[in-house]
Amino acid sequence: MSLPSLNQVTLKNKRVILRADLNVPIKDGKILDDSRITSLLPTIDYLCQKGASIVLISHFGRPKGKITSEMSLKQILPALEKCWKKPIVFAEDCIGSQAQQVAQNLKSGEIALLENLRFHPEEEENDPHFAQALAKLGDIYVNDGFAVSHRAHASVHAMTQYLPSFPGLLMTKEINALSQALQAPQRPLAAIIAGSKISTKLDLLKNLLNKVDVLMLSGGIANTFLKARNIEIGASLYEPSMLETTQKIEKLAREKQVEIVLPIDATGPLNAENFTTINLAHVPKEFKILDIGPETVSLFSTKLNQVRTLVWNGPLGVFEIPPFDQGTTAIAQKVAALSHHQQLFSIAGGGETLAALANAKSSNDFSYLSTAGGAFLEWLEGKNLPGIMALMKSYPDAG
Ligand code: 3PG
Repeated sequence: MSLPSLNQVTLKNKRVILRADLNVPIKDGKILDDSRITSLLPTIDYLCQKGASIVLISHFGRPKGKITSEMSLKQILPALEKCWKKPIVFAEDCIGSQAQQVAQNLKSGEIALLENLRFHPEEEENDPHFAQALAKLGDIYVNDGFAVSHRAHASVHAMTQYLPSFPGLLMTKEINALSQALQAPQRPLAAIIAGSKISTKLDLLKNLLNKVDVLMLSGGIANTFLKARNIEIGASLYEPSMLETTQKIEKLAREKQVEIVLPIDATGPLNAENFTTINLAHVPKEFKILDIGPETVSLFSTKLNQVRTLVWNGPLGVFEIPPFDQGTTAIAQKVAALSHHQQLFSIAGGGETLAALANAKSSNDFSYLSTAGGAFLEWLEGKNLPGIMALMKSYPDAG
């Protein structure tokens, strides 16, 4: 089964229900990262140029079926209008008479944004009646919300049963980039995986062992591997309950000839006043690993020089607190330089990871940055994403 394509359908004078992921991070009314908005622009432009009107639907936060003003999509309306350079009509509900009226009044090239889908509990229940009520608002369904495609929710999954359904341009771009990295990569293929807990990334590590040639680890995950190799990590964070699992992963990696690369030095505090860099052969009891050190930067860089494809999830240290951002910044800049010179196809995803790359001023040179967090991880885990499976099963007969 393959995905249908938007160019298979006539869009002129059609009303497109566009499922996007407008779940952008906001603090004190300010959007902290607008990449989910900017990356929708090609789809918006394409649909408008082809003469369609757009009924835009999305969730925002986790209101759990309750109406809350803090989670109203109305607050991001000005940002959408500014980025897409178009006025947008707003409907206070995503189904019902007002939504229908707003949708019906749209002319070719016009856009309406409907209120948060998750104000209705039926959205997360994948309720077919709710999906039908949404489907009534348009002629064609386009899913451009790769970042929410791991959720079997009504606007992502059940919807495809009621309208001719297509992936948007962003969805297609995300799937192509991830497929290029994991399904048919140029080898050697490496992954950088970091984060505090192995337990939350166990499925991901197991799946990657079937794919990659080199696995570079950092953070609490690497600490647990170091501990299981009997390397002293002082007072650093690790998961005692995962030591045995770690040894199994090491065994599997040997069988599959995957090289696991762990830090060899680290930076961290010795006490409240001082921080230092220490070779991991001589770690004092009170030392806490908060970042990789320069020798590890050089080790990881040497590996990166040898690989052709890289998948990255997780900052290498506590990058929010300088100077513990230095390791992540150095490796991000190395990946950016290799990618810029076409020596490496690099892909990264996850909110924290993208924030760390932005902090390193290297985002622009990565080959691809996914807009997804959870969906990116589930893809790396090798799971079938319900939103994508539903698009594959749908019948594009709208033309
Ligand atoms: C995300 O930010 O990862 C998506 O918008 C999905 O949000 P959710 O985890 O609340 O389903």
